[in-house]
Amino acid sequence: MAFVNDDNITDLAVDRWATARPPRLAELMTALVRHLHAFAREVRLTEEEWLAAMEWLAATGRISDEKRQEFILASDVLGLSTLLVQLNNRFAANATPATVLGPFHIDGSPPAEYGHDMSDGIAGTPLFITGKVVDTSGNPLPDVILDVWQADADGAYEAQLAEVDEARLRAKYRTRADGTYCLRTIAPLGYSIPLDGPVGQLIGQTGISPFRPAHIHFLIDHPGHARLITHLFQEGGDYLDTDVVFGTKDALITRFELRDPGPGPDGTDLETPHFHAEYDFVLQPHG
Ligand code: BEZ
Ligand code: FE
Repeated sequence: MAFVNDDNITDLAVDRWATARPPRLAELMTALVRHLHAFAREVRLTEEEWLAAMEWLAATGRISDEKRQEFILASDVLGLSTLLVQLNNRFAANATPATVLGPFHIDGSPPAEYGHDMSDGIAGTPLFITGKVVDTSGNPLPDVILDVWQADADGAYEAQLAEVDEARLRAKYRTRADGTYCLRTIAPLGYSIPLDGPVGQLIGQTGISPFRPAHIHFLIDHPGHARLITHLFQEGGDYLDTDVVFGTKDALITRFELRDPGPGPDGTDLETPHFHAEYDFVLQPHG
């Protein structure tokens, strides 16, 4: 074997990692080695900088647990999560586009009837979202489950509140025979990503805004169709063009019409002004 020098170190490391199995792991690891070495050469990485990076990675691991995924947050703010969404969700032009999942989805949300209020008395302006789920040919899809979750009016998700022990601002709605759905909640606010960890420490050394625009998350996994993970964003809200995780897409910006007190779209009488948003989700059929 050749002993190491400046010129051959990358090839030596690539050859060694090319022995990984399965072959896909070898492909991933050899490309990673090539790109890491190219990065270090390009920026002429110093040993102090390398050590600071190792300490940052260790701190990111230490703060992570089953409720907090600081590495995923790092991927989000670096734009990597959105790049993966783009690479892996190539839908027809008229399909609803996907965006980032984010760290706050909780499995097993309770089923909700048409018009059910998933805010359950939490303070905020009532918001109805109504529409249809259809496929890219416009056929309405009955019995589609819309798994919905969002932050409260202070920007906090259930997963961030230690004291909460039942579903909060999340539910699974189902489309009716004609593909229609109606959900009731409160209007969300934009919020800052958590800044008390290593990602926040890095963001603090930049001019990057840590905020996400107001949004509601949807996960729609219907048989025969590509799984859709997306959000709806409130038109005119703050931070739409500076979303810290690059998740905002034009086709997902939705008008929240402010309506006077009176009957809501599900027929219930509202004593306060409320928002009504209309959105049709368009699913991409398989193959
Ligand atoms: C979210 O929308 O819930 C989210 C996404 C990425 C990072 C942090 C939060
Ligand atoms: Fe969110």
